Formats: sequence, C-alpha cells, structure tokens
Amino acid sequence: MSAAPKAIMTSRYHEVYGHWQRDSHGFWAEAAQAIDWMRPWAQVFDPTLDVYGRWFPGALCNTCYNALDRHVERGRGAQPAIIYDSPVTGTKRSISYSGLLSEVRTLAAVLRDLGVAKGDRVVIYMPMVPEAAVAMLACARIGAVHSVVFGGFAAKELATRLDDAEPRLILSASCGIEGARIVAYKPLLDEAIDLARVKPEKCLILQRPQAEASLVKGRDLDWAETVAAARAAGKDADCVPLAATDPLYILYTSGTTGQPKGVVRDNGGHMVALAWSMQHLYGIDPGEVFWAASDVGWVVGHSYIVYGPLIHGCTSILYEGKPVGTPDAGAYWRVIAEHGVVALFTAPTAFRAIKKEDPRAALLAGHDLSRFRTLFLAGERADPDTVQWAEHILGVPVIDHWWQTETGWPVAANPVGLGVLPVKHGSPTVPMPGYDVRVVDEAAKELPANTMGSIVVRMPLPPGCLPTLWKADDRFRESYLTEFPGYYKTADAGFVDEDGYLFIMGRTDDIINVAGHRLSTGGMEEVLASHPDVAECAVIGVRDELKGEVPCGFIVLKSGVTRSPVEIEAEIVALVREKIGPVAAFKLAVTVGRLPKTRSGKILRGTMKKIADAEPWSLPATIDDPAILEEIGEALRRHGLGG
Ligand code: COA
Ligand code: AMP
Repeated sequence: MSAAPKAIMTSRYHEVYGHWQRDSHGFWAEAAQAIDWMRPWAQVFDPTLDVYGRWFPGALCNTCYNALDRHVERGRGAQPAIIYDSPVTGTKRSISYSGLLSEVRTLAAVLRDLGVAKGDRVVIYMPMVPEAAVAMLACARIGAVHSVVFGGFAAKELATRLDDAEPRLILSASCGIEGARIVAYKPLLDEAIDLARVKPEKCLILQRPQAEASLVKGRDLDWAETVAAARAAGKDADCVPLAATDPLYILYTSGTTGQPKGVVRDNGGHMVALAWSMQHLYGIDPGEVFWAASDVGWVVGHSYIVYGPLIHGCTSILYEGKPVGTPDAGAYWRVIAEHGVVALFTAPTAFRAIKKEDPRAALLAGHDLSRFRTLFLAGERADPDTVQWAEHILGVPVIDHWWQTETGWPVAANPVGLGVLPVKHGSPTVPMPGYDVRVVDEAAKELPANTMGSIVVRMPLPPGCLPTLWKADDRFRESYLTEFPGYYKTADAGFVDEDGYLFIMGRTDDIINVAGHRLSTGGMEEVLASHPDVAECAVIGVRDELKGEVPCGFIVLKSGVTRSPVEIEAEIVALVREKIGPVAAFKLAVTVGRLPKTRSGKILRGTMKKIADAEPWSLPATIDDPAILEEIGEALRRHGLGG
C-alpha cells in the first residue's frame, strides 16, 4: 500500500502496524500478555495444523476465567460487569463482577449436572436479557460450545441450526419484547424441535412475566426453579482447562444458500484479539463503560457486548430496546448519560432511524454526555450523510469500521486507542494489525490504488478469526480460500486510496445487509421457489432510506395459474416471514412475466437492482431479450420503485 500522508503520522498506527508486519508472532505473543493462561503455548502459530494453521497451540486457558474470575480475584468484584437497561420492560439492573460470577458458577453447575460436558454443544435462543450472557459464560466455563441463535429467526431457521450443531441442551426464554410487540419464543422453539432431526435432551426455559410458556413434561425445566435448587444445594462449577484451540462457540451466518455457515471461534486467539482491540482500537480502559447496541445473536453481541468488555474488565451495557420508539429517539442519549458510557458501537441504521425521528436532535437536550468520547459504526456501509450528522450533533469522532462474523473483530478501523487518524467519510480507514489487506482482480493480481476489485486478506488470518466452519472444512476452503489462492476472500468489493484508506462498496455474492443484519437472497429464493404457484424467482436487495437495503422478490407464475397475483404476492411475503423470520424484512414481492437472463441462462440481478434503485444502467450485451427489462421497470414502478 502507498505511503501515508503527513497528518496520519501523528497516530501510533503506522509504528504498531509496522511492528506486526516485521514480527507477527512477536506482536501476538506480546498481545497475549493481556490474558491469563493456565499453561503457555508451545508455538504462537503453527501453520501445519488443521485447515490453515492454529494460534497458540499447546496453551491451556479458560475464557470465563479471563472474563470474570480474574477480575474478582484482583479487586474488581464490586464493579458493575453488566448493566441491563430494558426500556421495553421498565427494568434496570446492575450486576457486579462478583454477582455475575456467582450466577455463572451456579448455571455452569446446572449444565454439568444435566450431562453437558466439554465439547458438547448448547444452543441459546434468547432475547436481550442478562441470562443470555450468563448462559454463554456458563458454557465457556465448562468448555461446552455455545451457539446463540438470533431471536428474529423463524422455527425453520432454528431447526437448521439444531441439525447442524446437534446440541445436547437448549437454553431459551418464554418471550422476547420487540418494541411494543411480545414475541413468544417458546412456540417457535417447540416447532423447531419438531422440525429438527436432532432433538435436545433438555430445554431450560426462562419464564418472563410478559408471556409465560407451557413446559413440555420430561424435556423442559424452569430456569429459575432449577437454578434456585442448585444454589440451595451449594452446587458450583470451576473453570475447565481448555486448549487455546478448542472451540468456544459456533455462530451461524448467512451463506449463499439456505444452509447457514457455522463460524467456529476458538478460545485463546479470540481472547487475545478482543483484548487488543478493546484497548488499542476502541481506546477503552478497564473500568470504563462500553456499550455495543446490538444483540447477543450477532457477532457484535458476542465480541463487544459479552466477551470483549468483560475480558478487558469494563462495564458492558446490555440494552433491550430500540434506538427509536422505546420510548423515543432520545433513548440512546439517556442510556449514555445515565450509565456514563464512554463509547457506543451501533449500526448506521440506528442513527438513520434517530435522525428521521428527531432531525435536529432536540432530544439530546438535558442529557449529560460529557464522558462520551467516541461513536463506532459497523455492520453496513456508513453513508457520509449519517456520519456527518452524528459528528455534528455529538461533537465526538465518529468511527466507521469494517468486519464480518467470520473475522470476529475488525479488519479495518481507525484505532482511536493509538491516536485517531484523520477521518475520511465513506472509509472505515486502515487495516488492523494481523490483516494484510489487498485489492485484487479475478486472477488474484493486485490492483493499483483507487481501482475497484475484490478485497482479500493474505493468509494466515490473525487470532480471533475463524479457523474453519463447523464440521465443514471443505466448505470453508471452497467458500473462502480457493478463489484467490493464498488469500482469504472477504466477498466484499472496494478499493484502497492513495493514503492506504479502504473503501468498502458492497458484497460480491448474494448477501445483502438489511438494517445491519446479514441475509442471504439465495436463502430467500429457496423459500419463494417452494410456493406451489411459482415457476421462477429472483431476490435482490434494493436501496432503502432507513435500512440501507431491503429485499425485493420477483416471481414468475407457473403457466395455468389463474389466481390473483396480488394474493400470491401476499402469500409469498407471509411465507418468507414464516420460514426465515421477521428479521428478513421481506415485504415486497413483484409478479413479472419473465426474468431477464443472459443467453446462457444467468439471471441479470445486477441490472434489475440498478433499475429498482433508479440508477443508470446499460443494456447487457449478452441479454436474451432486452424487452424484458422494460417489463421489469414497469412492474417496479407499479410498486413505487425504480423512479
Ligand atoms: N426477535 C423477534 N423479532 C425481531 C427481533 C428479535 N430479536 N429483532 C427484530 N425483529 C423483528 C422486528 O420486530 C421487525 O418485525 P416487523 O416486521 O413485525 O416490524 C423485523 O424483525 C425487522 O426488524 P428490524 O430490521 O430490526 O426493523 P425494525 O423496524 O424493528 O427496527 C431499527 C428498525 C432501525 C430501529 C432497527 O433495525 C435497529 O435498531 N437497527 C440497529 C441495527 C442493529 O442492531 N444491527 C445489529 C448488527 S450491529
Ligand atoms: P456480518 O457478518 O453480519 O458482520 O456482515 C458482514 C458484512 O457486512 C461485510 O462483509 C460487509 O459487506 C458489511 N459491512 C460490515 N461493516 C461494514 C462497513 N463498516 N462498511 C461497509 N460494509 C460493512
């Protein structure tokens, strides 16, 4: 990458990145000093192990010990570890490090007594309540591999994950609360277990007063009763020594088909990377209050609601609410002021939602944000308008940063802990140590500055990134390592400018980002195709002012279908909600006579997207029948799209 301009040199970034470039193993060995190990590693990185090598082989450690026990042992016991703030239930609860440790010890003992042992999988299907974090940490304590499934997914999606992870136990709750809507989780869980090939032995159900669930005899246990009985009996579980390379969790994320990818996270490298990022990237000191306004069902929740802040000895906010409507667009300012938050991490969508409701940020008035230092945005492209608005109303640096479920921590950022680099709107700034980011053409040849191409990372990936996919080494190789030999394919496209700043312009596959949620249009197409009246279909992401992108489905009806297209379109919308879940935000199905294709039969999704977004488009040379594009434009205009 090209040399940095003068202004950049005031930050320590180049010195630190250079250290990593010169001596990667030395760099990570030094970073690993932030972690308490039960036995040191034999090698910092062994390239011969598994698919592409493993970090810290030979070391023994425990993530729960590093997140809780050691802080209590060293005097942090009385400090809040988690502040649960739930405007949707009117609850606020501060849980100290000692208190959290005590809850985790007891739940870990319950899991153990239910037969969960090291290496067993436990699925967690829970809303944003402290018990979700307790569940993750309890698994980590005994070496069980957790897999948290986001609550906005439907039963079928949950069932797919149950079949892949094969959990011995499921931890769930009776309901979640989505703004004013109570979402009963238990019927979804029961249906998923019915659908799944692999059935759990037991389910531990947290009853919430907003909607109590009926329990299945012999299978379901009441969380509160079971934990209370264990506590009364003095049950307790110590940390199990685990290999640094043992899995801590599996987190499913959208792939290009309906079959999600099970991203595996290890224990040792993960802790090292998170600890480094909390200090140097986010610029947070132990004892400070950090808030990632996401959900434990996403990678942001894993890394920066639960593990990162706790490993670093911070107080983490667990917020059960929305940026708007709970009760208004001042909710974020209230939380920041009330709990002394120093940095907030959220998706640009949240700020677009706040800006829409309160464009002058009138609701900021009266909130003391004097301790607030930085706003971090990720999950989708941070549009310059939103960034500028946030800078203007908050008067603090607004930092875009770029990463993926697979990487577990940011690939590119403006590392404020090393001194803020000049911000360029539209860029997540520069690669973090560990990531040798390049922009290449289809032949894996590096492209010059300011030229769009595929963004790849030179192997090996740093600590914290996925070593493989769960039970799917070959899929891991095919998805990420084969297309550009020697590199990890991010499946994002973009460029690097003359100052070495990265610009991320969009995905190269069929993944779309809806309100910062990652979704597969391929998975949605599978659902559309399952409708009995649909002959052919295509789903694309179209631009949306609030959510960045929303899905739009095109359907071609089977010949002989005489029912009203409007009726069928409504059924399609309901079907996606039923099969994938409300999080897909699939609200638009458009019936067309034919789909535009190349002569070889490939659907021209890119051109359809341009038409829908009212962007200039040119007639593809290989198109089978150009008149179809006119028809598509017409159909979109009938639905208010396409300009
Ligand atoms: N359980 C059940 N349903 C859920 C859910 C959950 N955990 N999370 C979302 N849903 C539902 C929503 O209620 C909504 O349902 P609806 O179609 O009946 O309205 C649907 O899934 C889509 O959710 P969402 O895309 O979040 O839209 P929204 O209109 O509810 O909220 C925002 C819009 C902007 C307020 C919201 O998207 C937001 O807070 N975004 C911040 C981004 C974020 O947290 N990203 C995570 C990655 S960092
Ligand atoms: P997820 O795995 O859900 O975190 O989604 C990862 C994808 O979200 C990336 O591959 C990008 O396409 C997109 N993404 C995340 N952060 C950013 C960002 N800061 N700018 C642009 N796109 C982003």
